[in-house]
Amino acid sequence: MRTVVPRVRGRSSRSDTDDSPRPGPYGRRPAEAPGPALRAVGLTRVYGQDESMVWAVDGVDLDVPAGQTLAVTGPSGCGKSTLLQLLGGLDRPTEGEVWLGGMRIDHLGERALARLRRRSVGFVFQAYHLMYELSAAQNVELPALLAGASPRAARRRAGELLQQVGLAGRARHLPSELSGGQRQRVAVARALANDPLVVLADEPTGNLDSAATHDILRLFDELRAAGQTLVMVTHDERVAAAADRVISMRDGTLADDTRLDGDGRGMRHGHDGGTGLSHDGGTGFSGTGLGALLRWED
Ligand SMILES: Nc1ncnc2c1ncn2[C@@H]1O[C@H](COP(=O)(O)OP(=O)(O)OP(=O)(O)O)[C@@H](O)[C@H]1O
Ligand SMILES: [Mg+2]
Repeated sequence: MRTVVPRVRGRSSRSDTDDSPRPGPYGRRPAEAPGPALRAVGLTRVYGQDESMVWAVDGVDLDVPAGQTLAVTGPSGCGKSTLLQLLGGLDRPTEGEVWLGGMRIDHLGERALARLRRRSVGFVFQAYHLMYELSAAQNVELPALLAGASPRAARRRAGELLQQVGLAGRARHLPSELSGGQRQRVAVARALANDPLVVLADEPTGNLDSAATHDILRLFDELRAAGQTLVMVTHDERVAAAADRVISMRDGTLADDTRLDGDGRGMRHGHDGGTGLSHDGGTGFSGTGLGALLRWED
């Protein structure tokens, strides 16, 4: 564990150039709120105390506009996972604010936060975190059921999503009967079950070989084309190169913030920028089609 000696607080690492006004009053509903999909203001998470205090996230200011694909990079222990967990309401900041869809979420009570996470955030983890006693389809149905969808609607949605991630033929398989790449595609489908405002992915390709990484990148590119806001932590340059923007963290702060122009990445414009991907990439479905699916109504 990297240990940081306590020191004077108060510096800011704001590195984005968006000078749009701060969001409106606490509690405004996401649908009514303009502004970024995600916003961190002075976000700080300190672990431990006294000499062993660690500023895992240290005064981060960040806006993620709706529809942006943001990659978060940086050395091990710099705070990437902690930042992602704070943004998704899985952890609470020591100081600072988190806004999701125009609503401040860091002050919400446990139940409200859990409900918000279920409905508005889709998580994808390196180790998949699937329910291993449930089939692929049941895993994808679960978030919709928990959010109050009827079993029929949840089943239909899961079927659609599994088809979109290329696993229609594996719906009844248990995770143990799937490859790593297939498991992660189930996890992506599950993350999309409730049409989340943001998808947060922590090292989504960390356990995958290059072919399976390719499949996940292709899916993410389709999500990007469909306007899905996506934040992904990654060590993989190919994954970062597929984003609209890359931020790099050092010791809990934002050290760099780069907006990619879309050229040379291959995924965006159908030429191979080192990823080996093209926009259509053989998925057989268009971003528009997935976009329609993402706006699930029932
Ligand atoms: N529960 C915890 N208790 C104490 N310290 C923690 C805890 N979780 C994380 N840390 C510390 O906070 C810092 C940031 O950890 P974090 O997991 O966010 O890093 P990371 O950038 O995701 O690293 P990696 O690339 O290895 O996954 C590290 O120094 C870590 O040791
Ligand atoms: Mg991590």
